[in-house]
Amino acid sequence: MILSVKGISKSFGNEKVLNNVNLELTKGEFFSFVGPSGCGKTTLLRIIAGLEFPSDGQIFINNVDSTNLTTQKRNIGIVFQNYALFPNMTVFENVAYGLEIKKLAKEDIREKVLKVLEKVKLTSQSEKSVTMLSGGQQQRVSLARVMVTEPALLLFDEPLSNLDYSLRLEARNEIKRLQKDIGITSVYVTHDQSEALAMSDRIAVMNKGKVMQTGSPQEIYYKPQNLFVADFIGHSNFFDKVSAKKIFGIDINEKQMLSFFPEELIPEKTILDSGLKLIDVQFTGFSIEYLISFGDRIINSRRQADKSENALQPGDSISFTFDSSNLRILDNEQN
Ligand SMILES: Nc1ncnc2c1ncn2[C@@H]1O[C@H](COP(=O)(O)OP(=O)(O)OP(=O)(O)O)[C@@H](O)[C@H]1O
Ligand SMILES: [Mg+2]
Repeated sequence: MILSVKGISKSFGNEKVLNNVNLELTKGEFFSFVGPSGCGKTTLLRIIAGLEFPSDGQIFINNVDSTNLTTQKRNIGIVFQNYALFPNMTVFENVAYGLEIKKLAKEDIREKVLKVLEKVKLTSQSEKSVTMLSGGQQQRVSLARVMVTEPALLLFDEPLSNLDYSLRLEARNEIKRLQKDIGITSVYVTHDQSEALAMSDRIAVMNKGKVMQTGSPQEIYYKPQNLFVADFIGHSNFFDKVSAKKIFGIDINEKQMLSFFPEELIPEKTILDSGLKLIDVQFTGFSIEYLISFGDRIINSRRQADKSENALQPGDSISFTFDSSNLRILDNEQN
């Protein structure tokens, strides 16, 4: 194991911000912590980094109990949200800094820095001051500066949150490419679920200091273990006890919800009074979106578009068919 987080809890005063967190990362994994603001992601990352100490539990890095080691002794690299580059230094000097502290020979430093700059495609910028670079380029310098020290574990805390949307997409592809290329085990903190899904080998979804589920992006997305995970990851159609029975004839209890993706609900016209009424049909090119009312709420259904005319019209009474292998009953574990 590159990283084992064992029974980590942390309190600030009376506030328990981490509650018995357990995680294990194998070599080369890209692992994300995702969850709403204040759920404890940064605190957990800081404990792994040795910038904060747990109230309970242990941290093992490379199978060494590192719980009480300083950051310098942990063989980790950290990429923060603000890149924290040295403004009065060139790109080359910023990247070389960590190696100079380790007192490596000048020639070794030069070789390692040039190699990393090539990987992040900044060779031609190496003599420029970092203040002259774009946001995306600065972000690559901050990555290069950490990678050059060849840490066993790379930690990222929302490194893209200062970038605008298109740069953000570009930078996340870049981080993923470099991470796979170099094979450094990485822990990545974000509150952006689509970023976590797109980048990670595995994800831990956190809420109020607890890990609600750990799994691959596909597991988290298709097989959420509880209502919190489904809701956070972006499921849109939830049905409580009453509506699950009325619409689908399925029995669940008060603490459960039934969930379907829009594409899992196939609308059909019915002459019965189902309580479901088609209120809008939207053609998007790739798909047809159906908005269906049930009482005061809207249910989303989505079918792949084809060239035939819409068989369903607004005002139609609707019933749903679905594939029973898609049946997803979620427990509300928040309380
Ligand atoms: N040094 C501290 N002293 C007291 N409380 C703290 C301290 N650091 C964090 N907290 C509290 O711990 C909780 C978790 O904070 P944390 O920064 O870990 O959340 P986060 O998941 O990273 O949120 P965000 O997505 O907003 O960055 C918050 O309620 C925060 O106020
Ligand atoms: Mg944070």
